[in-house]
Amino acid sequence: MTSPTVSDLEFSLLKTLIEKESGIFITENKKYLINNKLSSLLAESGCGSFMEFYNKAVQDISLKKNLIDAITTNETSWFRDKVPFDILEDQILPECLANIFVSKSDSIRIWSCACSTGQEPYSIGITAHEFVHNKKCNWLLPKIKILGTDLSHTVLKEAEGAVYSKSFSARGLSDEMKAKYFEEEPESDFIKVHSKIKSMVSFKSQNLRHSFEPLGTFDIIFLRNVLIYFTDEFKQEIYAKIYKALNPGGFFLMGSSEFLPDKQEGFELNQYKRGFYYKRK
Ligand SMILES: C[S@@+](CC[C@H](N)C(=O)[O-])C[C@H]1O[C@@H](n2cnc3c(N)ncnc32)[C@H](O)[C@@H]1O
Repeated sequence: MTSPTVSDLEFSLLKTLIEKESGIFITENKKYLINNKLSSLLAESGCGSFMEFYNKAVQDISLKKNLIDAITTNETSWFRDKVPFDILEDQILPECLANIFVSKSDSIRIWSCACSTGQEPYSIGITAHEFVHNKKCNWLLPKIKILGTDLSHTVLKEAEGAVYSKSFSARGLSDEMKAKYFEEEPESDFIKVHSKIKSMVSFKSQNLRHSFEPLGTFDIIFLRNVLIYFTDEFKQEIYAKIYKALNPGGFFLMGSSEFLPDKQEGFELNQYKRGFYYKRK
């Protein structure tokens, strides 16, 4: 049996629902995304048309969650773009360490929003581990708390499992990192994040559409490679929430080709190597 193709009306209804729930904006020329990404979910839900699927999803919270999950793009890798992790190790963590002595604060809280399958928060954990080791300040390690969040429950489950396929999900990992921070099962394709890194990271479901307040405030926030899916209006809403979620003097890292608008107040732009990062004033 051939699967149904989405009509203009069905596309418009689904597109509006997806944007309302997740902020993900699908342009008119990306109708194929609905067909490609939702056809198996449509079949699984037993619906004969996208209209039937839409009507069911509006009322069924779990189906709606699966619909949003299916539409997300979860591309990620270890130490993605590399420079942000150099910035973290060479610029940000030294400043946080100095601040700990001054303010006597008892933790460094780091948030990886839209963390996908966990490579970003675990790469942050490995970088922090390297920093602490090199600076010989092991007492700092229990004070570093990393939170990874995403709205997709499928990717969060994988992130929490911390088990990755060597063939498909090891992009960006050097053999040295693998040996130091992963457990390898001989004869198996899988590697597991070592408990010394896993214990630094916790995961939570968080939709960027919702308030960030329940998460508390952070010293460092990574928000990379997700804003491209959102409208300028939604991005503006997110920047205001990020500002509030950052402690004064806190750091904000975006994707390699992402920047705050020039007129955005409250952040100072800094450069290190080929990369940029922001500091909350
Ligand atoms: C392309 S991945 C980026 C992962 C990682 N930050 C990186 O740079 O490698 C984008 C992630 O954003 C998540 N996402 C999309 N819309 C979201 C929203 N409204 N709230 C939270 N996460 C969202 C997706 O589920 C996906 O895992």
